[in-house]
Parts: sequence; C-alpha cells; structure tokens
Amino acid sequence: MSLLFSPLGLRNVRLKNRLVLSPMCQYSATEKGEVTDWHLLHYPTRALGGVGLVLVEATAVEPLGRISPHDLGIWSEAHLPGLRELARRIREAGAAPGIQLAHAGRKAGTARPWEGGKPLGWRVVGPSPIPFNAGYPVPEPLDEAGMERILEAFVEGAKRALEAGFQVIELHMAHGYLLSSFLSPLSNQRTDAYGGSLENRMRFPLQVAQAVREVVPPELPLLVRVSATDWGEGGWGLEDTLAFAEKLKALGVDLLDCSSGGVVPGVKVPVAPGFQVPFADAVRKRVGMRTGAVGLLTTPEQMETLLQAGSADLILLGRVLLRDPYFPLRAAKALGVAPEMPPQYQRAF
Ligand SMILES: Cc1cc2nc3c(=O)[nH]c(=O)nc-3n(C[C@H](O)[C@H](O)[C@H](O)COP(=O)(O)O)c2cc1C
Repeated sequence: MSLLFSPLGLRNVRLKNRLVLSPMCQYSATEKGEVTDWHLLHYPTRALGGVGLVLVEATAVEPLGRISPHDLGIWSEAHLPGLRELARRIREAGAAPGIQLAHAGRKAGTARPWEGGKPLGWRVVGPSPIPFNAGYPVPEPLDEAGMERILEAFVEGAKRALEAGFQVIELHMAHGYLLSSFLSPLSNQRTDAYGGSLENRMRFPLQVAQAVREVVPPELPLLVRVSATDWGEGGWGLEDTLAFAEKLKALGVDLLDCSSGGVVPGVKVPVAPGFQVPFADAVRKRVGMRTGAVGLLTTPEQMETLLQAGSADLILLGRVLLRDPYFPLRAAKALGVAPEMPPQYQRAF
C-alpha cells in the first residue's frame, strides 16, 4: 500500500496525501505586501495538481521582516481580503491551505533574485550586530522590547492567518532568518539570557512558538521549519536540533520540517538527492516527533521509500512543483494508485 498517497491527520486537519507544496517566495506581492493575481493563479494550480497541503510562501509579520519588497505580508488588516481569497481558492481546489509566517531578520531587504538579489540598504534587526555577509547591513541588536514587538507580530500574524481561513501554520525558523539566527552561535553572540548556551539561544524562538501555539486552536496544527544544521564550523548541528525538537514537541508543535543551511555564507553543503532526509529521520526516530523531509526529492519511488523507512511523515516539494504542478497526479499513476482528483482531469491520468 502506498504511504505517499495515504491520508494524514494533523490534529483535526485531514491531508489527503503526504505531498506538500514547500513554501517558496514568489516575490510577486505588491509593495504593501498584498496578494496579487499571481498568487491566486500559482497556489490553486498546485492544489489542483494534487498536493495534500499547500504552504504559502514566507509571509512577513512586520514590514522590516520582508526578504524583498515584494514578499507577502500579514502585519495589517489590509492583508486579510487577499489572503482570505487565496485560502478559499486553495481549499476549493482540493488542498488544505497553510501559510509560513516569517521574519527575515538580518537577511531582510534584498532585491528580487531576478533583479540581482542584492541588499537594498534597509535597516535590519538581529540577535547581534553581525552582518550576514559582505555588503549586507549591520543588524541592530534587538533589545527585549524589540523582541516583544516581534513576538506579538507573530501572534497577530497567526491570528490573521486563521481569520483568513488557513488551517495550517508553519513558523519559519530556518535559513538564517530572524528566529534561525537566534539559534546559531555563528549569528547569535549575545551575552544576555538570549545568547551563549544552547538553552539561551533557543529561548526566543521557543517563546514565539509557545505564544503562537496559545492562539492556534487545539484542533489545528502548528509546524516549524528549521535548518537542522548550518553546515558551519562551530555552528548549529543535528544534536542541537534534536534538543530543540524535544522542546517544540513539549509546547505542542506538531511537526518539524527539516531543512538546512542559509545561516552563514561560504559553507560547503553536500547537496545530493535527499541530502536532508537524515535530519528528518533522526528527529522522527529519536524524538518521536512527526517530520517533513525536503530537498532534492524528485521521484515517486524515492518518496515512497523514505516514507516506508519511517524517515518522515510528509514530503515537501519545491522546484519539482514549480516545473510541474501536476507532479502528484503523475506520481500516483507511476505508483499505481488512483488519487483523489478533479473529475475534469480523470481522462488524463
Ligand atoms: C524560488 C524559491 C523560493 C523559496 N522560498 C522559501 C520560503 O519562502 N520559505 C522557505 O522556508 N523555503 C523557501 N525555499 C526553499 C524551498 O521551500 C525548499 O526547501 C527548497 O527549494 C528545497 O526543495 P526542492 O529541492 O524540492 O526545491 C525557496 C526555494 C525556492 C526555489
């Protein structure tokens, strides 16, 4: 029996299969962070293509937290109508609607990739005054009031996401963005209660997770994405991730989405098919927490095998689904499964 095409319950949300659209910035929002026609076409199309869960891209909880001026935003009531329409259309097209809440921290304020991707000289914030890379601004270290403001922004963002009809919330704690930069000793060199020991570096991200969990109703899941390692000498690694996962699980986080890297530049990443799967596997088996596997997963057989091995509960797909929204329907056919699909497409698969 295929696990890839078997349903999964996350609290009271039923995913029809294990395939997820991985959150991917579309850099296509208005400069006020509003949904555009692009999002209303892009996301529902992936839902029609058969994924069980659509995770909408990193959506900024405050204007300073945007990776680019064209990121989606969720810091204002003005974002609600567009987000509501987006969630409705994803659901209508057959997938559970989810959204990733984010703050870009010291990596905020860069041009869109196709416009060069360079820092635009925004004021940025972070745990410590260490720029991400040459040419990036020096972050203003957050004081406790600044951290409180951002924690509240995550809470308000989560409330708005729920009001808009999203059923799944993922907190972005990966890739060197704000919460991730608190975790790694390479980006966090604070000497207060939020830096130094592992416990101190985890403190702010855990406070955010706890505060968000408190406003997400018990029937809906909360996911967290981490960089399981930053691949840097003396940085954050798998053992830290396992300790962090234990704490997140105790707070009621339902699944850890295991990515890696993005925290410090110039590191060697052993990119290969499924190279991040061992992280999802270790968290699932050693912490007993549900996990998502992501990164260079491209064939249905590879996905089915890793689920059968107990390495993960969900498979997040990025570029595969940019290339082909209908990958899930083709994957089902390749595995000899009849997937749930719109009747309009039945003669094609
Ligand atoms: C265009 C693009 C935008 C991305 N934006 C995000 C994002 O908003 N949040 C995030 O956590 N990861 C983001 N990622 C990473 C993907 O979610 C995914 O982890 C990565 O592409 C590896 O999966 P893949 O090999 O299936 O593409 C992005 C990747 C791409 C290609």
